[in-house]
Amino acid sequence: MTEKIKIEKLVYEGKGMGLLDGRPVFVPYVMAGDTVEVEITRRHRQYSEAKLIAVLEPAPERVEPPCPYYGKCGGCQWQHLSYAAQLEWKQKILEETLLRVAKIENPKVLPTIPSPKELGWRSRFTFHGNDRGEIGFYEPESYRVVDIEKCLIAEDGVNEQLKRLKTEDQRPKTKRDYEINTSGKKGFTQVNPLQNENLKKLLKEWAEKVPHQTIVELFCGSGNLTEVLIPLAKNIVAVDSDRTAIDLATSSFFSIQFHCTDSVKFFAQYKPEAPLDLLVLDPPRDGAAGVVEGVMKTRPKNILYISCNPETLARDLKFLKDFANYELVQSQPIDMFPQSYHIESLSWIGPAKNRG
Ligand SMILES: C[S@@+](CC[C@H](N)C(=O)[O-])C[C@H]1O[C@@H](n2cnc3c(N)ncnc32)[C@H](O)[C@@H]1O
Repeated sequence: MTEKIKIEKLVYEGKGMGLLDGRPVFVPYVMAGDTVEVEITRRHRQYSEAKLIAVLEPAPERVEPPCPYYGKCGGCQWQHLSYAAQLEWKQKILEETLLRVAKIENPKVLPTIPSPKELGWRSRFTFHGNDRGEIGFYEPESYRVVDIEKCLIAEDGVNEQLKRLKTEDQRPKTKRDYEINTSGKKGFTQVNPLQNENLKKLLKEWAEKVPHQTIVELFCGSGNLTEVLIPLAKNIVAVDSDRTAIDLATSSFFSIQFHCTDSVKFFAQYKPEAPLDLLVLDPPRDGAAGVVEGVMKTRPKNILYISCNPETLARDLKFLKDFANYELVQSQPIDMFPQSYHIESLSWIGPAKNRG
């Protein structure tokens, strides 16, 4: 049996939400303002999940998805939205998450910085192969491989390597992954090199606004962001747990003390010689809740938090607010992942002004 619903908004992870008998229904591949026919696939106590059967009345921001694999391949979720709508919804979702999870009323979230390229931007991929010799990405919520000739969000160099791989006669037809990285760097690298430059520019702009002698940078990787911080402070301490990344960072930037260890444990025990002016952190998707303990001890004057997951950012902000009495100054979404729901952002956090 199918149902007709109107989609009210988009939510994190890209789905749209509509109401059926007063309860939320979440549907992929829709847009706010669409009227759609859906089939309920799972019922939960508080909400249902549904699949899209037909778009009855499309929202004006809908566009024809450029990729022939769209919907079958699990890589992209928002190709049916105009790029302007993608940017606007990333801002709205970040705002809504900060209110819902961190309980921040009217958070200052700036308009999303667009990616210099909407397609052809991605430099690093893991492709999956199967025993039929197909290579591509997984279908949504599955481990079945969709054979891909060319990926539209990939840089040309990635597609050239994929083509070479697929035409290799000797290639064994087995289930395995293939890493392609045209950046030439090892370990973690931002996947959108041009937008990474905008992130660094923004970090520099914000970091320059506040005076500092001492900076701690947690989750520094191979020093992608450290490079921006070096001219700004006398003492910089940078930490990451990845040995290869730290070795690379140490050989690139001689003046910095790099530590290869767990960021949370390091920061909990860290005793700054002078007051800590700035804490910069760029954790993986699961965030950095444990850093709050170190913040309570060291009381950094400012925190710049780079996040690729609004849910864990908002959770960590709530901890910083409730346990350490810090507040969000402003948050800037930066579109690192066009055509997908993923939201990268830089947030500026400081001690609450109304303290005491
Ligand atoms: C999102 S990346 C950021 C890297 C770097 N800032 C950049 O821009 O390339 C997250 C980094 O956190 C590191 N990491 C993950 N868990 C960690 C932990 N518990 N302690 C220290 N580093 C960790 C990873 O090795 C990775 O380099």
